[in-house]
Amino acid sequence: NPNEGISEFEISVQEGETEFIPGQTTPTLGYNGSYLGPVIKVSRGDEVRMHVRNELSDETSVHWHGLEVEGTADGGPHQVIPEKDIWEPVFSIDQPAATLWFHPHVIGTTAIQVYYGLAGLFIVEDENSKSLNLPDEYGVNDIPLIIQDRSFTEDGSFLYYDNMMDGAYGDYIMVNGAITPYLDVDQLKMRFRIVNGANARNFDLRLSDRSEFQQIASDGGLLESPVVSDSLFITPGERAEIIVDFSDYEEGDVLELISDGELVMTFRVGEEAEDVTEIPEKLAEIERMDPDLVSGFKSIELDGMGHMVTLNGRQFDMDRIDDDVAEGELEIWEISTFRSMMMGSAGHPFHIHGTQFQVLSRNGEEPYQNEKGWKDTIFVQAGETVRILVRFRFKGLFMYHCHILEHEEAGMMGQLEVY
Ligand code: C2O
Ligand code: CU
Ligand code: CU
Repeated sequence: NPNEGISEFEISVQEGETEFIPGQTTPTLGYNGSYLGPVIKVSRGDEVRMHVRNELSDETSVHWHGLEVEGTADGGPHQVIPEKDIWEPVFSIDQPAATLWFHPHVIGTTAIQVYYGLAGLFIVEDENSKSLNLPDEYGVNDIPLIIQDRSFTEDGSFLYYDNMMDGAYGDYIMVNGAITPYLDVDQLKMRFRIVNGANARNFDLRLSDRSEFQQIASDGGLLESPVVSDSLFITPGERAEIIVDFSDYEEGDVLELISDGELVMTFRVGEEAEDVTEIPEKLAEIERMDPDLVSGFKSIELDGMGHMVTLNGRQFDMDRIDDDVAEGELEIWEISTFRSMMMGSAGHPFHIHGTQFQVLSRNGEEPYQNEKGWKDTIFVQAGETVRILVRFRFKGLFMYHCHILEHEEAGMMGQLEVY
């Protein structure tokens, strides 16, 4: 088959209408539909050909968040797709199995276009992930959960309200575009690929009976081994894959997924079922980056609040390249945030395009168990200092920024050139 290893995708960026509240509709945006988008699934080694058609009456771009590709294929603010135009990047998949995502990234409209619905999931598989016996039947025991929050006006339209402090929060929690939905599950292990797709809100996810679950993957791929916990703290832009085992429940049991006491979604337990999946003690081999081989250091200071946020004391300028690094060179980046008066989120989720990094330390100590795998977004709380090991494998211009989208829009972003 001459097309072996070639994956082609048609994505149309569309305007539409969605009924979130029964009987009421609101204008929305979506990929190949009216809200959110399709799941793109590729394998390591694939050559991907994208055909992205912008049907909006506005510019957009499609950024592959977490994907390691050349700057020209990244879909950031330098790859604007004019209205009614088409963008056709070609790239190869060369990174471990992971749950990535995609969303627009045009200066000035990123936050609002995401809020109105532009976000989709991008799943990478590899030999290792295929050889494991994890739940991987999409829509059956492998379920994406794009978690967001939204507000509505009285007529059911979206209310985008940037409160000038910490970004746009919503009064309703939505999962995959539905307000606090339910899911029927059988008595077996379910895998949830969770994306925090909110503009600004952190989620602290727990099950209502406080039972434990296993986290098997972080932003950039499977963890070395599962991390058992009864909570998952996930900030805007981050992903996590968790396994919830429903085999100890009985038919008719109802379990809630909650965040800070608020309902996120409900699981309704159904019949007993045969479960052939397994969560092995060893999920993946993660090659540790060696701090002794570091040849560069960058310091990133995130400061301010509301619309007065800065990165290293200044605000983003499209015409200014803030830094550079050679392809393949290993660096330590030290990300710090000042103790500030930030109210809600009390920190910044720091994200870098075009690379997956490793966390070296958090406040001089071991990173948390679930941040020892590949990451592309890392939460830095007010007053904290996090050191990460960064290496770019592809050339080009890449953004780094706070993933509170209103902070990014307000200029808490820089760009670097990988040469
Ligand atoms: Cu999720 Cu700069 O992006
Ligand atoms: Cu990104
Ligand atoms: Cu921020």
